[in-house]
Amino acid sequence: MSYRDEFTKPILPGKAATDYERYLRTDELLALQKSPEELLHQDEMTFMVVHQSSELLMKGAAFELGRALEALDHADYGNSTRLIRRALELLDPPIGLLHILETITPYDYHLIRAGLGHGSGLDSPGFLSLLHIGPRLGKAFHEQLSRAGLTVGELYRRHQEFFGLHDVAERLLDFDERMQIFRFHHLKLAERIIGGHVVGTMGTPVEVLQKRMESWLFKDLWDVRNQITAAANQQTAGKR
Ligand code: HEM
Repeated sequence: MSYRDEFTKPILPGKAATDYERYLRTDELLALQKSPEELLHQDEMTFMVVHQSSELLMKGAAFELGRALEALDHADYGNSTRLIRRALELLDPPIGLLHILETITPYDYHLIRAGLGHGSGLDSPGFLSLLHIGPRLGKAFHEQLSRAGLTVGELYRRHQEFFGLHDVAERLLDFDERMQIFRFHHLKLAERIIGGHVVGTMGTPVEVLQKRMESWLFKDLWDVRNQITAAANQQTAGKR
């Protein structure tokens, strides 16, 4: 066997031709889309690929947030913020991917939609796992706050002294903001493809998507800014 053969011959278990394909299980992954003959419209391939990619990226993000939660439980703020930052990077592409679907015309989309049954993003495992981890992160954050004997307001006022925990709070806020940004771009996508005053494949009015934009994962982290500004305004008024 030549030196080159020794390094190109697959050594991992599996049937695929190369270790790259065996490790990533690309045979299975790339068989998860309809074949060209099965597509209800040519645009359906992009529709499927975008959804499947988003599910994978959200799965990755939720996994990293689970690790961030564990680090937070151990008061390891440095690793917690590092992992939340990674999750945030994983969440950016699904937001960008939404724009790809804006290139499907409303008429063509209805051909694809005819094959969705009652399938709806409300059942997205990726998005649901992100919604599930949010309150758990919030609880862990508040446990750390009470261990330090602080309120959210005090943490923000004494941010230099409690830099690590303050940094966690700011990254949690980033996560919440990413969820809002996803929802905003997704709402605009739904409005331009199917309209803003219709019902979805699960019978949900599109207006519900608008309502959902008003739900926050970490409302107190948004509220604290109002308190800070109100206090600053009061101080300024007192000086006049
Ligand atoms: C042509 C593209 C799309 C349209 C027209 C669309 C439309 C809708 C509609 C109407 C709903 C409300 C529920 C229902 O179906 O009855 C919904 C929910 C949802 N969709 Fe989509 N969607 C599209 C693409 C996507 C993509 C690419 C994702 C990425 C995973 C996604 C994720 C979601 C999620 C997570 C929800 C629940 C939203 C929430 O909880 O706020 N959708 N979608």
